[in-house]
Amino acid sequence: MHAIADNLIKLVDTLKITRLGGFIGAEVRGVDFTVEQPESVYASILAALAEHGMLVFRNQRHLGIGDFVALGERFGELEDNETLDHVEGFPQVGTLIKEKGHQTSIGDMWHVDHTYLAEPMRFTMLRAIELPAFGGDTIFLSAKAGFASLPDGVKETLRGLKALHSRTHLIKDGKYAAQFFKERPPRDQGKSNNQMAIHPVVTTLPETGEEILFVNPGYVVKLDGWTAQASQGLLQTLYDHCLTPEYQFRLRWEPGTIAIWDNRQTWHFAVNDYAGQRREMQRLVIA
Ligand code: SIN
Repeated sequence: MHAIADNLIKLVDTLKITRLGGFIGAEVRGVDFTVEQPESVYASILAALAEHGMLVFRNQRHLGIGDFVALGERFGELEDNETLDHVEGFPQVGTLIKEKGHQTSIGDMWHVDHTYLAEPMRFTMLRAIELPAFGGDTIFLSAKAGFASLPDGVKETLRGLKALHSRTHLIKDGKYAAQFFKERPPRDQGKSNNQMAIHPVVTTLPETGEEILFVNPGYVVKLDGWTAQASQGLLQTLYDHCLTPEYQFRLRWEPGTIAIWDNRQTWHFAVNDYAGQRREMQRLVIA
């Protein structure tokens, strides 16, 4: 009773929002997304997302594909996914599948979705369709906590820097190369493999005014105006700092779990520890 009461942070109508990690994550309960909800419910969910970086909705197995898409649309504009196969008839719903015989999986390194775009996606929504009997968790990390805990002098230096993000960085990484493409022949080869963008190293979350460390190991190639070699030491120091266990939350998926995360303030890592088992997820990216 006390444990539940202590982390209960918000009650709107029947909506209950409870914290999961010390720096990231909250669970939202008490809302049926197959029924039209008052605007206040979605506004509270968005406010919780800005505050906690990622949210979990359990037991949503009853949501049809149309309900899932409609839910995503409440949080922004859905983008047709360029890089994944999609559910037939729903180009916005990307499928992330690891077959029993696959060695590689999608997203098994620390990254932030699509930061190589000039306008990266604000949110990603993911739901579990088929899960391994063990493993297959996703770990999330707060880059907001990462920035807040840096010394003032370092923060000031970082505010003056920009970084180059490139899609090829993650793709060229050793474990993503030959085996990955053997198992998943690229469907958009040539179209977007050379996408790149330069973003400030420190960004501000418009909803809260908080500063975020906006670099990630998946897509950042180097600091703008620096060589890759010269960038390496500072970037690695920042990554090591962000990887502090206290800034992380590990999500154990259940059938019907939906998670939504804010790409502007979190990183994530899909753990590939379930060899010989199948995992299937559906993903929406939300601008
Ligand atoms: C992703 O990196 O977007 C996929 C996360 C997951 O499958 O757990």
